[in-house]
Amino acid sequence: MSLFYGVDYYPEHWPVERWDTDIRLMKEMGLDVVRLAEFSWSLLETDEGRFNFAWLDDVIDRLQTAGIKVILGTPSAAPPAWLIAKDPTILPMNSEGKRSAFGGRHHACQTNETLREAIRSYVTTFAKKYGDHPNVVGWQIDNELGNSHHDLCHCPSCTKAFQAWLEKRYGTIEELNANWGTAFWSQDYNAFDQVDTPKWLVTAHNPSQVLDWRRFHSDVILDFHRLQYDIIREHSGDRFITHNMMGFADTVNYYELGEQLDFASHDQYPSGFFRGTVDNIPALMAAELDMIRGTKQAPFWIMEQQSGITGWNVMGRLPKPGQLALWSMQAVARGADAIVYFRWRVAAIGTEQYWHGILPHSGIPGRNYEELKELIAKTKGLLGDIHGSMPKPQAAMIFSYEQKHAIGIQPNNPDLNYQAHFQKIYNAFYRKQIQLDIIGDHAEIADYALVVAPLQYLMWPELADKYRSYVANGGTLVLDMRAGVKHRNNINYSAGALPGLLADLLGISIPEYDPLLKDSVSILWDDVRGEGRLWADLVSVDADSCRTLATYASDFYSGTAAVTVNSYGKGKAVYVGSELDDRLYDRLIEELMASNGLNMPDGGLRGLERTERQTDEKRYLFVLNHDGEAKTIAIDDGWQSSFDEQNPEEIAPYGYHIYSIDK
Ligand code: GLA
Ligand code: ZN
Repeated sequence: MSLFYGVDYYPEHWPVERWDTDIRLMKEMGLDVVRLAEFSWSLLETDEGRFNFAWLDDVIDRLQTAGIKVILGTPSAAPPAWLIAKDPTILPMNSEGKRSAFGGRHHACQTNETLREAIRSYVTTFAKKYGDHPNVVGWQIDNELGNSHHDLCHCPSCTKAFQAWLEKRYGTIEELNANWGTAFWSQDYNAFDQVDTPKWLVTAHNPSQVLDWRRFHSDVILDFHRLQYDIIREHSGDRFITHNMMGFADTVNYYELGEQLDFASHDQYPSGFFRGTVDNIPALMAAELDMIRGTKQAPFWIMEQQSGITGWNVMGRLPKPGQLALWSMQAVARGADAIVYFRWRVAAIGTEQYWHGILPHSGIPGRNYEELKELIAKTKGLLGDIHGSMPKPQAAMIFSYEQKHAIGIQPNNPDLNYQAHFQKIYNAFYRKQIQLDIIGDHAEIADYALVVAPLQYLMWPELADKYRSYVANGGTLVLDMRAGVKHRNNINYSAGALPGLLADLLGISIPEYDPLLKDSVSILWDDVRGEGRLWADLVSVDADSCRTLATYASDFYSGTAAVTVNSYGKGKAVYVGSELDDRLYDRLIEELMASNGLNMPDGGLRGLERTERQTDEKRYLFVLNHDGEAKTIAIDDGWQSSFDEQNPEEIAPYGYHIYSIDK
C-alpha cells in the first residue's frame, strides 16, 4: 500500500459546496489518504438506531474519484446527547463523586453497559457498511484513549468492575489483604464488595490499592478497545486497525494496546500550547517517537502531525518556516512510515477554533500548505524506499508503566518525577546523538549492548532474573536510585538490605539514603565535579568485582560511593545513586560507550539531530537542524545525498538533509 501522506478532514464542519475545492487542493498537494468521522456520532446516528450515512458516502465517493483513500474513525470518544439522555449514568464520575456534564468530549464511563451496547450497535452497522468499501483502507478505534480519563471513572459500575477485577487477580479476600498490607490502619476486608476505588479521602491512600487501580484502569480501556476491535475484525478483516496514541501518556498501557493494533499511531504536537516551559522540545519529541516505535517495536504512523498553531482558548507559537517539514522528517527518521496532518482546515466552530491546520480559517492556501506540498513532492519517493525499515540502535532505555505509576503514587522526593528523570537521561544520549530504542520491561533485551533502566522501584523475581542473565551474557545494564525497593504489589522489600533482589547483580548494598529534598550534593567522577539531585544513595561496595566510579564530595557522606560498576559474568552492572547533572551524565555515557567499544557519532554534527533507519540494502541518515541558525556539517565519505542540496555542507535553519549508503 503506498500511503505516505494524509490529513485529518472534517467536511461536516463546512458546507458541501466547499468539498470539491478541498479535495482538489488535497490532490494537488499530493495527499494519499484522509481520516474521517472519529467525532461524528451525532451526525451519523442522529437518534437511537436512526443512521444517516448519506453525507459520509458522498465524501468518500468524492475522495475515491480523486484517488484519495480513507481511514474511518469510530466516534466513541463523543457519545451524543440522545444517548446520555437515555442513560445519564454514562457520564463519568471523578474521585470526588462528581459526575461530568455533557458538552465536551470523553464524557464516557467505559464500563457503562448502555454505552457499550450503543457502541456495539453503532460499530457493527458502521463496520458492516464500510468494511469492504474499496476506498476504505483502515480503521482508527476511538480517539486518544485515556485522554481526559486520568481521574475517571469512580461510578458504581466502575467500582463493581474494580471489585471483580480484584477478585480475579487475588482469588480470595485474604490474598488481597496480604498483598495490600491491610493490617496497617485496620484496613482488612472481609469481602470484595467492601473494597472501593481510591475515591477522595482525608489522608493518603494505601499505595498498593492505588497501583492496582491504575492497572485496572488500563485494563478497562484495553477491554473497551477490544469490544470494537472484535467487531471491526469480523466485518473488515483485511483492513488495518490502528489507534492514535499520545507519546508517554500513561492511562493505558500502550505496549498492551499495541497487541490489538496492526501498527501504532501517534499524535505529535511539538509546539503544543500545553507544553509550557518544557526545555529541549526536539529531544522530548524524539523520545516520544522512539516510545511509539517501541510499543510494537515496529514502524508506526503519525495520525495527527501538527500543521499550524495549536490552541483551544489560548494558543501556542507560530511554527517557523521549515518547522512543519522538519517535524515531519523527525518522525520519519525515527520510524514513521506515514504522516497524517492535523487538520485540513482550522475549525470555525466549537472548542478547537484555534487549533490550526494546513489551511487557515479563510480556506485560502498559504505558507503551511506550500511548505507541506513541497515536502511531499520531495520526499514521497524516499518514504517508499524506506517503508518498513527500522532504526537499529545498540542501546535501549526501559520505559515502564508499572514503575511510573508506583513512583507517581509515592515520589519519595516530592520533586522526583519518573517522566522528567527518564527524559533527563534520554537527553544525555540525545546530546551525543546516540540512538536509543525505548522498550517495556517485558521486552527482550539480549541483543542490546547497553540497557538503561531508570527507577526500577518495583522488582520481582522474573525481572531481576532477566537483568541478571542479560548482564551475565555480556550486556551492560545501568540501574539507578530506588531500584529494588518494593515488591510488585507496592510493598517494601524487607528480606535484606537494598537494592534487594538486585544486590548480587550490582555487588553493592545501600544501608542508608538521603532524600535531599531541594538540596543537591557534590559528586566527583575523576576530574569531573558535578551535582546529584533528588536523592543520594549511600552506596557500600561489597563485592570484589565491584568498583567505585564516582563518590559524593559533600555532606557527612563525602567519600562514599555514588556510582559503581560491577563485573558480573561477561557483562557489567552500573548503579547510579542519584540524579546526576548534565556533566555527570555526559561522563557516564562516555564511560559506557568507551568500555563497550561503541561508536560515538561524528563530533562535526553536534547541535544537530542525527538518526538512521536501515533497510536490508542501505542505511539512511537523517540530519535535522532544530536551530534558528544555519549549521555547517561534515558527512563521512561514501554517503550519498538523497536530494540535490544546493549547499551540501550547510543545513538551513529548521532544515534537514538525508543521505544513504549501501550496507
Ligand atoms: C488531539 C485529538 C484531536 C484534536 C487535537 C487538538 O490530538 O486527537 O481530536 O482534539 O488534539 O486538540
Ligand atoms: Zn464508570
